[in-house]
Amino acid sequence: MKKIPLAGFEIAYDRRGSGPPLVLIHGFPFDHSIWDEVLPLLEDKFDLILPDLRGFGESTTFDSPTSIMDMARDIASLLDTLGIESASLAGHSMGGYVALAFAKQFPERVNSLVLVASQAAGDSPERKEGRYKTAADVAEKGVQVVVDAMIEKLTASQVVRSRIRTLMERQGVSGVVGALKAMAGREDSSSFLTSFKGPIVLIHGDADELIPIDRALEVKALVPPALLHVLPGAGHMPMLEMPQKTASALKDIG
Ligand code: MLT
Repeated sequence: MKKIPLAGFEIAYDRRGSGPPLVLIHGFPFDHSIWDEVLPLLEDKFDLILPDLRGFGESTTFDSPTSIMDMARDIASLLDTLGIESASLAGHSMGGYVALAFAKQFPERVNSLVLVASQAAGDSPERKEGRYKTAADVAEKGVQVVVDAMIEKLTASQVVRSRIRTLMERQGVSGVVGALKAMAGREDSSSFLTSFKGPIVLIHGDADELIPIDRALEVKALVPPALLHVLPGAGHMPMLEMPQKTASALKDIG
């Protein structure tokens, strides 16, 4: 992977293919490699930019407090370094929160906004509290806490489960703790979305147990021109469970 230096840390990224730029942003607690299966299906159509968010993969591990907006600003710095003025952004789950924060901060830099198994709503007070508790548990006992809590909700496929288990287990404690707190502290983006002028695409499995399809239907109701691709039978990891269908939905952004 290549790396760009930011203030005191590094963001790692991969780049593949050619065409209009499309940034694929991974979710929690993963890294850019969740997109591996869709890359060969998209690289003849897009200039694919695949960051590891701060604290994940090969990007620098973070000990200081961080926010979803900080992660969005890292993506802006990456695009600046690559000389890319505007790009389409597709964010998976937490990556969707980052894409939304980016669009809020830099609306003119977003060609299309794609939410994959994500949502615009913020956390309920109970969900926030749960995240802070999980963050404390991870700090004490390690990343296995989130692996055990999440794995069965992510996908029904045993093959995908064993692949993502390894991926989750190799993430660092401080990145995972930082991201849990960052997600808890994020804003509700629903009202922002109604003012966003660019095209919105939603890709969601109807068997997603972590962020139910209702969250995508809420966005569609809020922004009726949004294009909704429902993937029947897919859970929370459509890019791994149904790479062909996920890739063809991503191609819909033009
Ligand atoms: C993700 O899959 O990125 C996160 O679990 C989303 C969330 O917890 O809200």
